[in-house]
Amino acid sequence: MKVLDYDYEALREIGRIVAMARDEMADAVKPGITTKELDDIGARILKEQGAESAPIVMYDFPGATCISVNDIAAHGIPGKYVIQEGDIVNVDVSAVKNGYYSDTGKTVIAGEAKRPEDVRLVEVSLTALEKGLEKVKAGTKVNQIGKAIYAETRKSGFTVIRNLAGHGLGKTLHGEPESISNYFNREENDLLKEGQVIAVETFISTGDEFCIEDERDGWTLYTPNRSLVSQFEHTVVVLKDGYEILTKVEGKESF
Ligand code: CO
Ligand code: CO
Repeated sequence: MKVLDYDYEALREIGRIVAMARDEMADAVKPGITTKELDDIGARILKEQGAESAPIVMYDFPGATCISVNDIAAHGIPGKYVIQEGDIVNVDVSAVKNGYYSDTGKTVIAGEAKRPEDVRLVEVSLTALEKGLEKVKAGTKVNQIGKAIYAETRKSGFTVIRNLAGHGLGKTLHGEPESISNYFNREENDLLKEGQVIAVETFISTGDEFCIEDERDGWTLYTPNRSLVSQFEHTVVVLKDGYEILTKVEGKESF
């Protein structure tokens, strides 16, 4: 498979690295730890593995990873915040090594969930990702992914954030296709190509359909009505008959 001029071994390596960081950070989530301490775990793993944080390299983001808690949908800045019992914690790790990028995310609940609905939110975010990924193969329209994510989400009584989306990547963090929405977006009518690398990510919400930027820090994206949000993300290679997950650690369950 060499449709695009990509080094797929290099893509597998950076995929494994971000997956390791994601999993170690998610495993460390517990009441009492700060988001900065979680970020330090991710930063250490990226460094040990010879990778660089994409948010730092590309955007000068104030953290090696994004940690988004409860009503923060994305781009949460790691800091002094102490994780509380029942917090819904998303870790999103993207990094670059040897010129190749990978991007992955996962949501976990710290300790005991506050409500059964919170557990369901996280479960639906994952099953919606699986439903979206089932559509991935060469020749499929990009918007079929969002259509499947949306159907699974609505069936479960939740909704999606419309102004956050997955994306193509590879030799850059954000490439073609520019946007892989969480709903059927008629403009996303490009066909997936064999060998293309894409990040499919779900942003499932308890109510709000849009998030807005916190003007005080210029980064944090939160829901105006404080709806809770759960994200999962995998980077995959499009194959003739399906896809290969890059953001996984060999011999380990990805999520
Ligand atoms: Co990400
Ligand atoms: Co992404």
